[in-house]
Amino acid sequence: MNLPRPVGHQKKALYLPSSGHQVVLGSAGTGKTVMAALRAQYLSTPGIEGHGRTLLVTSTKALSGYLQHMSRGAPEGLDVRTYGHFARGYLNSRGLMRGRNIVDSRARRELVGQAIRAVADHYPGHSLFGRKVEWFEDELSWITGMGFQGEDAYLETERRRRSRIPENSRSIVWEILEHYHDLRDEKGYDFDWDDIAITVRKELAGDDQPRFYRHVVIDEGQDLSPEEIRSLADAVPPDGSVSFFGDYAQQIYGQAMSWKSCGLAVRKVERFQDNFRNTKAIAKVAIELSSQPFFGDSEDLVEPIAPKVDGAKPTLVECQDEQEEMEIVRQTARRLSAEGTVAVVGRTWEEAERLCRGLESLHVKKNPYSWDAPPGVYRSTYYSVKGLEFDSVIVPFCGAAHMPSEEALDAFGEEDAMAREAKLLYVAITRAKSDLVLTYSGKYPPLLSSSPGLFTEVRP
Ligand SMILES: Nc1ncnc2c1ncn2[C@@H]1O[C@H](COP(=O)(O)OP(=O)(O)O)[C@@H](O)[C@H]1O
Ligand SMILES: [Mg+2]
Repeated sequence: MNLPRPVGHQKKALYLPSSGHQVVLGSAGTGKTVMAALRAQYLSTPGIEGHGRTLLVTSTKALSGYLQHMSRGAPEGLDVRTYGHFARGYLNSRGLMRGRNIVDSRARRELVGQAIRAVADHYPGHSLFGRKVEWFEDELSWITGMGFQGEDAYLETERRRRSRIPENSRSIVWEILEHYHDLRDEKGYDFDWDDIAITVRKELAGDDQPRFYRHVVIDEGQDLSPEEIRSLADAVPPDGSVSFFGDYAQQIYGQAMSWKSCGLAVRKVERFQDNFRNTKAIAKVAIELSSQPFFGDSEDLVEPIAPKVDGAKPTLVECQDEQEEMEIVRQTARRLSAEGTVAVVGRTWEEAERLCRGLESLHVKKNPYSWDAPPGVYRSTYYSVKGLEFDSVIVPFCGAAHMPSEEALDAFGEEDAMAREAKLLYVAITRAKSDLVLTYSGKYPPLLSSSPGLFTEVRP
């Protein structure tokens, strides 16, 4: 596989010591994924000092497939996995996986809903219960992802962080979490996808077998919870290593969590700033989006340097209605796919499928998507497109009616919803190598800057 040759900071990151913890942050398109793949190959190569079995791990299946493809021909001691795959495998080796004992997201929502209703009965009229189930799910995921050992640790952290929950509600949230666990036990489940990491850590603490992996390399580390990262750090021996690659501008799951809360012992953070993927004009739209006040700020964000490659301005198409947006998506996908790879990005898989209806003759493919995929149309979602890249990207429904979505607004309120949705859009936009087409109908997209000259603005 012909991966690019590392330059500058990339070289440094690639050959960081083969023991200890390393963190590499970089904005989109700066080579994190490629360097993560190369570093994993390097660490698993026999003959290299400190080499050993290596786990290259990320959060989504699509990106894990992409990394797998990049790692073809890599040494045998390299495994590419999603975190869930790794955790299940480890717990299985400890005899803890039996049948279907992880609750899936639909059943989880049902159980969280039941827990809320049961606890609400004890607090009639309390304002906390005006919130949507999605909000509670998100909060319970955050608590679990932080790995709090008991209510006091949660309340203490809540006191310190800029909490979104009024003081008199916090212990009620904890009560809901405990009740959810009871209901889950009653149904015969042992875990959900959030707390599986807690058990991995507990098991590793008492596991005196030699560690299976000597090195762990993480891509899109900002999308793993602190407890997941800690469990990966626990999974390697003291002379092993953890290399964390991430971009906090693309944190699309839940609430802002820094690598600093993951217990990694890092002396110096490497930063990648040179964008090798996008054209200048596409990067400008992304940079503009990330500098909007609603995008949020964090010291983990790396200021991107505008790339040097010229290209056409992204196109913003103002349509009369959604029907026309779908038509434009199909026409554009047909035209651009003659020459390269085109991603049609929907909010859900159903939406992506609906958008591509009528393009059957083009044999539209769903992810998994590979590094050297042939020209054609690929349907994807904001979540699954993470980490991938395409010659062209088409993002419909950017208008006020869809972005931020009603669900996000209902669950999280305007400020938080804007920040979350802006990150989703940022991920989608930064996947495009040379062409980016956005469509909307109705009011001008609230997330997009109206600075003149960013887009070629057209009406069909
Ligand atoms: N040193 C380099 N020289 C040339 N191209 C590079 C280099 N590093 C990365 N690239 C290219 O830039 C694009 C983005 O790389 P990727 O690793 O996906 O970035 P990130 O994960 O940071 O978003 C890919 O097409 C990759 O091949
Ligand atoms: Mg990447």
